[in-house]
Amino acid sequence: MKVLVTGGSGFIGSHVVDVLIEDGHEVLIYDLAEPVYGQKCEYIQGDVNDYERLIGSSRGYDAVYHMAAEANVNIFYEKPVISNYNTSNSAISVLECARENNIGRVLLSSTEWIYGSTGECEDTQITEETNYAQNPDHLYTSSKIAAELFCKNYSNLYGVNFTIMRYGIPFGEHARPETVTPIFINKILTGGEITIHGEGSQTRQFIYVRDLAEGNAACLKPEGRNQVFNINGREVITILDIVRTLEEIIGKKARVKFIENRKGNYKGRFISSEKAERLLGWKPKFTYREAMEKYVKKILEGTR
Ligand SMILES: NC(=O)c1ccc[n+]([C@@H]2O[C@H](COP(=O)([O-])OP(=O)(O)OC[C@H]3O[C@@H](n4cnc5c(N)ncnc54)[C@H](O)[C@@H]3O)[C@@H](O)[C@H]2O)c1
Repeated sequence: MKVLVTGGSGFIGSHVVDVLIEDGHEVLIYDLAEPVYGQKCEYIQGDVNDYERLIGSSRGYDAVYHMAAEANVNIFYEKPVISNYNTSNSAISVLECARENNIGRVLLSSTEWIYGSTGECEDTQITEETNYAQNPDHLYTSSKIAAELFCKNYSNLYGVNFTIMRYGIPFGEHARPETVTPIFINKILTGGEITIHGEGSQTRQFIYVRDLAEGNAACLKPEGRNQVFNINGREVITILDIVRTLEEIIGKKARVKFIENRKGNYKGRFISSEKAERLLGWKPKFTYREAMEKYVKKILEGTR
């Protein structure tokens, strides 16, 4: 298939592009930033909100992965206007191109944040049937919910097919350095102090970016049409588990400082990706420990 990937130069997009190429698809990256991770495909430098350029670039394509967005929630907080434009408005731009160019599918990168990040769904098993957060506590969440709703609108109103992919917390090669896993790795390697709020017993589900990319590629199957999928890891990891796993892999004790728990630091919940396994035959290949070993090895080789 001919597949266009907006945001294909980014952290997750670069891995999705690699897997799509390995699967035999003809891939085009459409991104403001140049691809720097050796993705072996065509590239067009463009803004997703530049509708005319996107429509010309996506003519004749079978599917569009819409991964471009403002993924850094801190930047979103600081610059809401442009961030929302790049996140939810950009979805309309892509969907409109799909309508105009008769593109068979738009696959949207979404997030587990749409279920809410605190209180509301704590200690529950979350599936794709779980409601959107009723009181989202972040602009990013609202913007992603809007992007999802636009996909559903375009399906109902114009017959544009979609797939919504709700990611867990990704880690692995090309991750932004200011996210939790690279921070902890760096602190242990350099002897810096790791600060943990509370006892470190809060749980999270992490997904190795290569597994996540394979989950994205699996969504292209016909069974993924007009469906919503959680794509997440299966292990529940405490913050302290991250530290202990890294200590074992790196072979060095971490310096950890425990401080008072943060208000609203939610304990965690379980997000099920059973639907993706059932309909698409996808599940993560690597355990948390195996994935972390691969990632740390790449960092130590200086190739992340
Ligand atoms: N990283 C996470 O923790 C996470 C978790 C869940 C969902 N997501 C979603 O996954 C997707 C990819 O995230 P990521 O972590 O790879 O982000 P990233 O910032 O590494 O990559 C995003 C890419 O989009 C491009 N981009 C942004 N605005 C654009 C525009 N207007 N036109 C063209 N290109 C533009 C950027 O240049 C960048 O290459 C995003 O939609 C994000 O919201 C990310």
